[in-house]
Amino acid sequence: MGRAPGLSVRLRLTLSYAGFLMVAGTLLLATVWVFLLRYVPDSTYLGPGPFSPTRSDLMDAFVPRAAQAMAFLLVFGLVGGWFLAGRMLAPLTRITSATRRAASGSLSHRIDLEGRQDEFRELADSFDAMLARLEAHVAEQQRFAANASHELRTPLAVMQTLLDLARRDPGGDTRTLLDRLYVVNGRAIDLTEALLVLSRADQRSFTRERVDLSLLAEEATETLLPLAEQRGIVLETSGDVAPAIGSPSLLLQLTTNLVHNAIVHNLAEGGTVRVTTSVRPETVELTVENTGDVLDPRRVPTLAERFRRGSERIHADHVGAGLGLAIVASITEAHDGALTLAPGPAGGLCVTVRLPLAPA
Ligand SMILES: Nc1ncnc2c1ncn2[C@@H]1O[C@H](COP(=O)(O)OP(=O)(O)OP(=O)(O)O)[C@@H](O)[C@H]1O
Ligand SMILES: [Mg+2]
Repeated sequence: MGRAPGLSVRLRLTLSYAGFLMVAGTLLLATVWVFLLRYVPDSTYLGPGPFSPTRSDLMDAFVPRAAQAMAFLLVFGLVGGWFLAGRMLAPLTRITSATRRAASGSLSHRIDLEGRQDEFRELADSFDAMLARLEAHVAEQQRFAANASHELRTPLAVMQTLLDLARRDPGGDTRTLLDRLYVVNGRAIDLTEALLVLSRADQRSFTRERVDLSLLAEEATETLLPLAEQRGIVLETSGDVAPAIGSPSLLLQLTTNLVHNAIVHNLAEGGTVRVTTSVRPETVELTVENTGDVLDPRRVPTLAERFRRGSERIHADHVGAGLGLAIVASITEAHDGALTLAPGPAGGLCVTVRLPLAPA
């Protein structure tokens, strides 16, 4: 931006130092002058001393000395001020150069300002913290993009192989080919949709309205009931009206993902899923608990990372992208909520989403 060039802060500080010194020097000399005048008569003869100074003598003696002192103060103020201002502003130079480096794309550099806590140190530390967050965020985005492309490439490559085979064998079973293509294509669509939901939640680009979590829980369990029945899993829903503020479609997606997980990552036989909603003084809670294999407590906190799938036995008919819980985490964050994952004591998972209670 074309801003008019101004005096540097160092120069301005120097001029202020020198200026103050000059004002203080002038005041001091003026005081001395007034003090001297009291003891020296106007120009009349005072008494019989060998030498009795008059005001004009005093003037002659005082003024050149005063001028010398002022000149000295001026030089001293300018040189000392320049030096002091330089020392005071040195951290700013480092902060500025770090900002320039960050602006040119190097996020790994840190200011690492040493010394005691003061305003500059605070600024430098906050700047370093911001750089660290930014760096982590960019790395996360890059990992995400790489993972997403990798995941999308898989169904596309499978389709390519299927089409290749069909081309080489024109008389082959078209029906089976179509069925397979349909399934693989469906996976690619699901994955793309999951990515879109993630980006919508991450950008927080949605309108907020009053949503009752207990209604969402009912809707999600109703939709997934056939899947639960097919797997012989009992679904229970209970709880109070739990009003939150947010996007109904995103929060329904969150609930559906949790219930879907609870069904597909459950016991092979005789599993249960319990969905409950409750109201606390400041928050509303949605809890989805399910039976299942015993989970390693150290791995549980990582399950909500993007593209993280459990390595344990997965139902052959459910190969997920590992985005379900990441979407839940992202939607929860976009609604200023908190997500907790806890392994069940006898296996399975207990997921709790806490959101701010909607004002009455
Ligand atoms: N309710 C649950 N009970 C037991 N394990 C779970 C549960 N929910 C998630 N997990 C584990 O966490 C992993 C990640 O879950 P997530 O929903 O993110 O991915 P996914 O279900 O594998 O795939 P996607 O949801 O994208 O179709 C799962 O692979 C599973 O191992
Ligand atoms: Mg899932």
